[in-house]
Amino acid sequence: MIRAAIVGATGYTGAELVRLLTRHREVELVGLTSRQYADQPYTTVYPHLSGQVDLNCQTQDIDAVTDAADVLFLALPHGLSVPWVAACVGKGKKVVDLGADFRLRRAAVYEQWYRVTHEAPELLAEAVYGLPELKRERIRTARIVANPGCYPTASLLSVAPLCGQGIVREDRLIIDAKSGASGAGRNANVGNLYGEVNENVKAYNVAKHRHNPEIEQEVAERAGLDPDAMAITFTPHLMPMTRGILATVYADLKEGLRPSAEEVRDLYRQFYANEPFIHVMDEGVWPQTKWSYGSNHAFIGLTVEGRTGRIIITTAIDNLVKGASGQAIQNMNLLFGLPETTGLEAAGIYP
Ligand SMILES: NC(=O)c1ccc[n+]([C@@H]2O[C@H](COP(=O)([O-])OP(=O)(O)OC[C@H]3O[C@@H](n4cnc5c(N)ncnc54)[C@H](OP(=O)(O)O)[C@@H]3O)[C@@H](O)[C@H]2O)c1
Repeated sequence: MIRAAIVGATGYTGAELVRLLTRHREVELVGLTSRQYADQPYTTVYPHLSGQVDLNCQTQDIDAVTDAADVLFLALPHGLSVPWVAACVGKGKKVVDLGADFRLRRAAVYEQWYRVTHEAPELLAEAVYGLPELKRERIRTARIVANPGCYPTASLLSVAPLCGQGIVREDRLIIDAKSGASGAGRNANVGNLYGEVNENVKAYNVAKHRHNPEIEQEVAERAGLDPDAMAITFTPHLMPMTRGILATVYADLKEGLRPSAEEVRDLYRQFYANEPFIHVMDEGVWPQTKWSYGSNHAFIGLTVEGRTGRIIITTAIDNLVKGASGQAIQNMNLLFGLPETTGLEAAGIYP
């Protein structure tokens, strides 16, 4: 059995890790940390997991938590992961960081967007960006996996098959994305109150969302472009729903190119042919967030708008599963040589 600990286990991604890992036949949960709920049964925080998990929350004692586990999942706010990652590397343990501290390969870019100093830039080079559909082989041998953000997961799955194919302007993508309120975590926040979210839709962090450089970094790498020359516009919106991300990407076709929708769809279907979690829809079928509710599956719809010379791609995922905890488990499966779908086979809940 793989002994797993979750650091920041009482947040939304932590709870989703517990829900999924308690059903994972190769994993034993050995540690769940929380400052606010230390020494309290985990199920007093999350009664819906009663009968599934029998651990108390424990304090964030880095040595004790790391020594007891084979793999750590870090589900902390950004800026807090470095001491945990350093301990894992020092003790020969694997680590999957669900936060942003190891996603951006250049410390200067991280510091510019997150406004904190990176305390271990020397470890950035060995962290692997954990989108299994794109980096599977590198993840298998990694020590540090930087689990992607939820919006970047949906955005990158939307455009990866096009990158480097000479079909679209990868540097000038426009991404319009929507998220459920759980994307902001469980911490108290006026913007996430029922009265603010219910019957309301708003854009936020326009032209300055921290997932923008992450998307640009990975698109640039796949397309063979200079990351500093990227001009991807990414606009997130908060939706009156609990879970789900819907990302719609507009990609300009290169001068003189007008592939048919079926040609582009064939490209996507070939690219994702062996991917158990990725589903490319037929023409005219557009993904809905509810299809992915509670599951690790991603649904991609696309068409070619000949009139404007654009490809339009829409991808739906669950922000807490494929956008966070499910993907983290997919990464753990790769790290430990297990079938990638282990513990993640279930379909979502509908309606
Ligand atoms: N929510 C999503 O859909 C989503 C998707 C992808 C990635 N992520 C990323 O995953 C990470 C966790 O997100 P989340 O939504 O689960 O957050 P959350 O609900 O706010 O939970 C954060 C967890 O970290 C602990 N924590 C908070 N402040 C801390 C501090 N200063 N020092 C130590 N521990 C602290 C909290 O417990 P205590 O306060 O009791 O210690 C809690 O267990 C974030 O980096 C987020 O950006 C989230």
